[in-house]
Amino acid sequence: MTKTVLSLKNVCKRFGGVVVADHIDLDLHAGEIMGLIGPNGAGKTTLFNLISGVLKPDEGEIALQGRVLQSLPMYQRSRLGVARTWQHMRLFGSMSVLENMLVGPSHYPGESLLRLIFAGASVREAERQAREHAMSILRRMNMEQLANTSVNDITFGQQKLIGMARALMSNGPCLLLDEPMGGVEGSAYETMRAIVREESQAGRAICVVEHNVSFIRDLCTSAVFMVQGCILERGDVSTLLESKALAELYFGK
Ligand SMILES: Nc1ncnc2c1ncn2[C@@H]1O[C@H](COP(=O)(O)OP(=O)(O)O)[C@@H](O)[C@H]1O
Ligand SMILES: [Mg+2]
Repeated sequence: MTKTVLSLKNVCKRFGGVVVADHIDLDLHAGEIMGLIGPNGAGKTTLFNLISGVLKPDEGEIALQGRVLQSLPMYQRSRLGVARTWQHMRLFGSMSVLENMLVGPSHYPGESLLRLIFAGASVREAERQAREHAMSILRRMNMEQLANTSVNDITFGQQKLIGMARALMSNGPCLLLDEPMGGVEGSAYETMRAIVREESQAGRAICVVEHNVSFIRDLCTSAVFMVQGCILERGDVSTLLESKALAELYFGK
């Protein structure tokens, strides 16, 4: 397969006595769309939290393109190219769509007051570029006309797309999507699907937590089935979706 972008080796995490990541080994490759499937409480979001730096693992190694991540804070991992969306959207409702996209990256040069004073022109140039990048993402989503609309005034599906748009502000190699389709239907669904496919074609390594089986069947190139912090099965999407363990534990039959 193509090059490994993200690699987890023997990653463990416990909350009190409960093991939520149990010796997880996982490789994610450029262009891959891995479906991460499992019942509620399986530890899927926790795994994203461990990769993006919300949580630190008790044991194990997490590497992005060979660079060890697990001791780095979240903002540095984001700078190195771990982008993610959140299962429960973290948007600022009273701010505009465009403002929500621009508050994401914490490393604009303008964040340092001294730099702002002494390097005003380069700060303005960086901000102009970020704004242009944000608008180009909104254009891809056919949402350009909503740039100045408050997030409270757009539909739920559009809000999910803005969660995705924020993640796309980073051009990094790795994209983690936590239930991007939850509650999304109609044209927003089609847009989300198209964007995920385009990002993988552009070479991003994507891991997506999703309960929507047709979305997984349509898009994913590999799948992992997780239960109680353990990876029970992994491999080809259709084989995995037809597996007995998944049918019993996930669909309750
Ligand atoms: N910060 C935390 N502190 C304690 N327990 C947590 C924390 N985050 C998640 N958990 C627990 O870890 C388990 C896995 O949760 P989660 O990763 O959210 O599951 P999933 O995303 O697969 O539904 C659950 O039992 C949850 O209650
Ligand atoms: Mg979750």
